[in-house]
Amino acid sequence: MKRLFKIYRHVLYFFALPIFVSSFFRPAVGKEYDVGFWKKISLVRSFRKTIRSIPSASDWLEHLAMAERILLIPRSVEGGVIECGAYKGASTANLSRACVLTGRTLYVADSFEGLPEPVEEDRYHLQEVKGKHKEYRKGDYAGAFEEVKQNIRRHGDIQCCEFIRGYYENTLAGLKDKKLVFVFLDVDLNDSLKTCCKYLWVGLEGGCFLFSHEAQDLAFVSHFFNQAWWQEHLKTDAPGFIGAGTGLPLGIAYGSAIGYTVKK
Ligand SMILES: C[S@@+](CC[C@H](N)C(=O)[O-])C[C@H]1O[C@@H](n2cnc3c(N)ncnc32)[C@H](O)[C@@H]1O
Repeated sequence: MKRLFKIYRHVLYFFALPIFVSSFFRPAVGKEYDVGFWKKISLVRSFRKTIRSIPSASDWLEHLAMAERILLIPRSVEGGVIECGAYKGASTANLSRACVLTGRTLYVADSFEGLPEPVEEDRYHLQEVKGKHKEYRKGDYAGAFEEVKQNIRRHGDIQCCEFIRGYYENTLAGLKDKKLVFVFLDVDLNDSLKTCCKYLWVGLEGGCFLFSHEAQDLAFVSHFFNQAWWQEHLKTDAPGFIGAGTGLPLGIAYGSAIGYTVKK
């Protein structure tokens, strides 16, 4: 029965795939960067290959949704792309392909030693939509620096990458004034999220996107609605979050883990 259900889901996925990727194939996506249909096909193939080759905490469709956004940023808007949370470099490799096509620097920020020790209230997270608890421990999702670089060399383009190595608390303050056009946070812990927002939001250009891979974690995304925190730390209104609780509709049954907010 379990096997039958698995086959059923594969069949569903096969037929749903054209719907999931249809937005990426819109002519407007990549137009400014001369990224047409065949380049997009090649991106899709390489994204899928990356995910099969490198252990990843995210899915290629999620990477594609982010690549779409990067390809839509007008050339006239200057700034780099940042990923916080690389693990083994799968999402990094795929994002680097979009960055090369658009001539953007990809800042890759990670401890390269995995998660820091979570404070007690950050140790267990509930994914409401799946009804599942997840426990986080120090060192989870560790990807060694050389291993990550090697994975990016094999499956992405390391030329556009600048690495920011260490815990965010010690490294991201230096980026406070850096112009950014796209932020991807896949950092698991609420504490890490707050540090990232504190230091990266100011540099994010107006109209640009911040994606998070914790969309299904309500405690996590509630941060984007916490008016008091945003007023205290960034003197601005809480931006809200698209996909809070379920993520963007990119998967069968459980949606996806990805969602975003836009800087006004
Ligand atoms: C779930 S993994 C990232 C998964 C990756 N994006 C992928 O798709 O495979 C979380 C990453 O966040 C990093 N991380 C979380 N909090 C951090 C912090 N405070 N400082 C530095 N790195 C941190 C961990 O080292 C880990 O690589």
